[in-house]
Amino acid sequence: ATKAVILVGGASRGTRFRPLSLDVPKPLFDVAGHPIIYHCLTAVSKVPSVHEVYLIGYYDESVFRDFLKDASTAFPKLSIKYLREYQALGTAGGLYHFRDAILKGKPERLFVLNSDVCCSFPLNEMLHLFNEKYAEAVILGTRVGDEAATNFGCIVSDSHTKRVLHYVEKPEGHVSNLINCGVYLFSTDVIFPSIKSAIKRRADRPRLVSYPSSENLESSYVYDQDDEDDETKNQIIRLEQDILSDMADSKQFFVYETKDFWRQIKTAGSAVPANALYLQQAWQNGSEELAKPCANIIPPVFIHPSAQVDPTAKLGPNVSIGPRATIGRGARVKESIVLEDAEIKHDSLVTYSIVGWNSRVGAWARVEGTPTPVTSHSTSIVKNGLKVQAITILGKECGVHDEVRVQNCVCLPYKELKRDVSSEVIM
Ligand code: GDD
Ligand code: GTP
Repeated sequence: ATKAVILVGGASRGTRFRPLSLDVPKPLFDVAGHPIIYHCLTAVSKVPSVHEVYLIGYYDESVFRDFLKDASTAFPKLSIKYLREYQALGTAGGLYHFRDAILKGKPERLFVLNSDVCCSFPLNEMLHLFNEKYAEAVILGTRVGDEAATNFGCIVSDSHTKRVLHYVEKPEGHVSNLINCGVYLFSTDVIFPSIKSAIKRRADRPRLVSYPSSENLESSYVYDQDDEDDETKNQIIRLEQDILSDMADSKQFFVYETKDFWRQIKTAGSAVPANALYLQQAWQNGSEELAKPCANIIPPVFIHPSAQVDPTAKLGPNVSIGPRATIGRGARVKESIVLEDAEIKHDSLVTYSIVGWNSRVGAWARVEGTPTPVTSHSTSIVKNGLKVQAITILGKECGVHDEVRVQNCVCLPYKELKRDVSSEVIM
């Protein structure tokens, strides 16, 4: 059998996803009508040999309760459980901590998925390569531009055999433009012993401790604090830095290179391209969930059954309208996510934007962002102190007054925009 783990992180992460992560944990944010991790589960459910999935993270238990209920109905063949780390243990630390639960029933293989990526998750293809090569590990890779590559794990492989020769996490300089997509398949006989030896190596390494001079009590206090931090950091075991590089040297480690779409979901704005990619995938698969195209619906568009869209409003492409949202007459919405209970009034325009829960866009108002280039894999909101994010985001319960124009802005929750604004973070 094969099992799957989805690494969901915790409340201290996803800071770049603000202001949206202030109101909902990033893994549960809706893109293309479903929480981000729902898309991971859809992919996992299509692997015939997988019946058990664990979400591993350090969010409070209550966070995933409702989602798990809905997901067990949506994916009846999967048993889905949340395993909570008492603190951040790192991408491999959590796996190791819950090894007994994971290894129950003696699964031979384990998929591990980062929850914050948007891709077609070609898991069956990875499994095929795994079997064909008698592999011990398979990593999903994709090609990105040279400049973007250093933000990711970089893979050097033998183009003929697909063997991973070398792995470096976020290198300083150019190593390769084949990068780690954050999706793995491991032999359970290899991954757990590998983590164990990484932990052992760390424990054996002589610890570098600086002793404060006896007369300086103030610095002694500071050093104590540092020691405590070290203790916590020492418990963090990362798949990328602590495990994968070694695997490239000593194990049957292969890369499956996807030509399909792949994006990271880090900044709040990256939810807009992720929404577009998942909607396009659903459209290609002939999904019944999408709105039927007509003169005023340019596919793909997702409209929640409880939303109210005036027939004269024009939507699409790449638009998701959340539960109970209302779209007034003559409104135009394209390349955007409109969240639960939001109201878009008549004759307004919303493009390349996210309209937060309960927010209101007034009549004749314009809420505009600029498109993210397809080749961009930028993961930061600010560059040289300037805001670079081009998607406009209205946090929860914001109001854009009638006829106001909001361009390339990030607006924190509960703000009222009464005047035109451009390229600002409104706090
Ligand atoms: N359970 C748990 N515990 N999950 C964690 C922890 C932890 O302590 N730390 C991170 N995660 C989860 C995150 O929620 C995310 O889904 C995933 O692990 C990876 O997050 P990061 O550690 O922030 O790494 P990254 O996103 O900067 O880079 C990773 O992903 C890239 C692809 O998106 C690396 O694997 C890169 O090599 C890779 O290119
Ligand atoms: P992940 O995004 O899950 O990896 O969490 P993280 O803890 O790694 O994010 P981090 O705090 O490292 O933030 C990443 C980048 O985004 C940094 O360059 C921050 O300066 C920037 N950033 C984070 N939060 C905000 C914010 O609220 N506003 C702005 N303007 N920049 C932010």
